[in-house]
Amino acid sequence: MKVLSVASEVYPLVKTGGLADVAGALPLALGKLGIEMKTLIPGYPAVMSALRDVAIRMTFDDLLGVSADVLEAKVAGLDLLVLDCPALFDRAGGPYLDTHGHDHFDNWRRFAALSKAGAEIALGNMPGWKPDLVHVHDWQTGLLPAYLRFADTPAIPTVMTIHNIAFQGNFNADIFPQLGLPPHAFDMEGVEYYNQVGYLKAGIQTAWAVTTVSPSYAEEILTPEFGMGLEGLLNRRVSDLHGIVNGIDVDVWNPQSDKDLANHYSVGDLKARRENKRAVEAQFGLVDDDAPLFCVISRLTWQKGVDLIAQSADDLVAMGGKLAVLGSGDAELVNALQAAASRHPGRIGIKVSYDEPLSHLMQAGCDAILIPSRFEPCGLTQLYGLRYGCVPVVSRTGGLNDTVIDANPAALAAKSATGVTFGPVTLDNFKRALRRAVRLHGDTKTWVQMQKQGMKSDVSWEKSAGLYAELYSSLLPKGSH
Ligand code: ADP
Ligand code: GLC
Repeated sequence: MKVLSVASEVYPLVKTGGLADVAGALPLALGKLGIEMKTLIPGYPAVMSALRDVAIRMTFDDLLGVSADVLEAKVAGLDLLVLDCPALFDRAGGPYLDTHGHDHFDNWRRFAALSKAGAEIALGNMPGWKPDLVHVHDWQTGLLPAYLRFADTPAIPTVMTIHNIAFQGNFNADIFPQLGLPPHAFDMEGVEYYNQVGYLKAGIQTAWAVTTVSPSYAEEILTPEFGMGLEGLLNRRVSDLHGIVNGIDVDVWNPQSDKDLANHYSVGDLKARRENKRAVEAQFGLVDDDAPLFCVISRLTWQKGVDLIAQSADDLVAMGGKLAVLGSGDAELVNALQAAASRHPGRIGIKVSYDEPLSHLMQAGCDAILIPSRFEPCGLTQLYGLRYGCVPVVSRTGGLNDTVIDANPAALAAKSATGVTFGPVTLDNFKRALRRAVRLHGDTKTWVQMQKQGMKSDVSWEKSAGLYAELYSSLLPKGSH
């Protein structure tokens, strides 16, 4: 089976969050099941400079008003198709934001062009390779299934994965004539959304199947509380909606071989984590005692409940804990955390940056990772935590709910606990969870048992890749694969 995956970021070339990890790891896991996946991504500067041995596979003279090539190259085991389009992608800033932190003014065109190019490949217009199915991710690629739905030629099946329904890609209706869609596509059955053009809405509306990244989140987004306006449409499509939990790349995230650690270790040798703890403390200017060291590795946003972390920081220190925060995001939250760090020198440290190697070291050295998210489609940092013996303290929502087993008395007795969970998300409940974590950490035998149980749990892609493969097969004509 040949599948085209289309995404706006992919690890290790360009990453702002979990989407990149998923887009980078899933093709490798599917490859083991005999699925040939090529991944179409935009030719941002970081992508273009990583390419070697490039072949031009397709040329557009007029892709929504600009010229572009599709290049093919292999990077880090991935078969990449790169939309080389300097007019849209060769510029400073990040994938979505300019150097001032504002959305690129033409994001609607940038990601419509990505979707249009993907649709042309799906329609068989790239010489030498035609996919059997297309898998697209998040609002940036939401128009692709719509381009296929409104094409004249019969189209192939499409799967749309929602990684985060909070980001919907809604644009003023006056862009519609420039998208190259027929007039009747501006309709409730097409891309129209409250008199705007809704990219995510378009994908949910027109893809053959819709998935999201955990079973719990698949349930949650059917409700007004979590659906963010799209719950009505999702309920209409509920028989085509699937929740498949993310895995992680267990080769990239392996405490026995991770190049970013101060010391390697395994489930049978947890004492060897200590050097990593010391290394984290040194980097964050924290005292090197045996008090429980909590960490945060996150976008610093309301979604992630970072305000609760800032508000409970004093209590955490009073309980005897230490805290290392790595992240960037909302200025107000950054300020609140920096203020907490200056109130507690040696006990709380913060680095406002994006630092992939440090994130690995922290998972390997910290005792627990805090993820009090208000909503969490899947969440990957708790999975890295499980794999690295960094016990997750999480809210009971979305993928967090599906992947962490709370240390309640029954689970402790059965030795199945892997973390501390709490809900609903309130400051009091979060503080109670922190207190429980500190207490559990004080009981070394129980804590080590939890760490080991987490490290033994299957967080690989194996099972979920199989579920995607099954879903793809179910959409293809019977007997074709
Ligand atoms: P989301 O995609 O909503 O931000 P996830 O938990 O799915 O949340 O994925 C976040 C990814 O980004 C993880 O791989 C995490 O380790 C990484 N990450 C987040 N913030 C940072 C940071 N400041 N430095 C390094 N890695 C980070
Ligand atoms: C999104 C979600 C996160 C999920 C990631 C990858 O960014 O916020 O929960 O893990 O996508 O699917």
